[in-house]
Amino acid sequence: MSGKSSGSAGLSGVPETLLITLAARVVASSQNADLGFVDPAAERIAASLKFDPGRFSDDHASMRGTIVRAQWFDGIARRFIEAQPDGLVISIGSGLDTRANRIAPPAGVDWIDIDFPEVTELRDRLVPPLGRTRNLAADGTAVATWAQTVPWDAGRATLVMAEGVSMYLEPREAATWLRGLTDAASARQSRMTLALDLASPLMVRQSHRHPSVSKTKARFQWGVRRPEEVNSLAEGLVLSESYDVAAHSGTASRIAAAIYRAVTRGRPIYCCARFEYGTG
Ligand SMILES: C[S@@+](CC[C@H](N)C(=O)[O-])C[C@H]1O[C@@H](n2cnc3c(N)ncnc32)[C@H](O)[C@@H]1O
Repeated sequence: MSGKSSGSAGLSGVPETLLITLAARVVASSQNADLGFVDPAAERIAASLKFDPGRFSDDHASMRGTIVRAQWFDGIARRFIEAQPDGLVISIGSGLDTRANRIAPPAGVDWIDIDFPEVTELRDRLVPPLGRTRNLAADGTAVATWAQTVPWDAGRATLVMAEGVSMYLEPREAATWLRGLTDAASARQSRMTLALDLASPLMVRQSHRHPSVSKTKARFQWGVRRPEEVNSLAEGLVLSESYDVAAHSGTASRIAAAIYRAVTRGRPIYCCARFEYGTG
């Protein structure tokens, strides 16, 4: 999935897609000022990389959708650390995301950002370090391997987030990953909150036409008809909330979301979802 190319911060394939979300954060204050999203660290990172957000910023729907999605994930993370000030946060596929910098977790929280080595190398150089945050170079789907190297202690409440990641996994890989997460939580008798965004089968079929993703070699591979489907992939995961990102991402996306819901008896075209494990 990974590799190097010139002109894209040395990234290609799925890792290169982190530039789409970086562009969205950089142009948020000009293009989507009404959302009130401010991320000075993202602007500094883009400047250090000499990255021109103009490569993606004319894809207005994705720029807005990315920020709407980021705000949903920010809210999940804030609520988690408020309730669990000694908890563990694991972000899988963090790219050059600066969520921990925006949220400033309290001293008791350990925060691990996982991504492929070429991405964590960039993170180590460019993302301002905070007290108990750490970058980990790993395949986030290889849970049994990385879980031993992070402070996922017995009984410790844990939030796992994967933003803009699940759709790039092959369906079988996604199912194995989810079971790996529940196995890891079960082995530690930990309560786990899992926050994901989920593509629909239509998005997967049309990803070669996606205005931004099609500028990379990455393609979507996994989608679900409804977020509830994830419950059946890993026993014990329970859908606790979902959020229709497309319905909140500008006029064109809102219309597409409404049409999709109408012709599919209420399915979201693209949503975020929170699952709980070990609370029953
Ligand atoms: C669209 S970017 C999203 C980046 C970040 N979450 C954000 O919202 O800005 C997708 C990221 O997921 C990472 N990724 C995809 N599959 C992964 C895996 N199996 N293990 C670790 N990282 C992965 C890619 O390298 C890339 O950084």
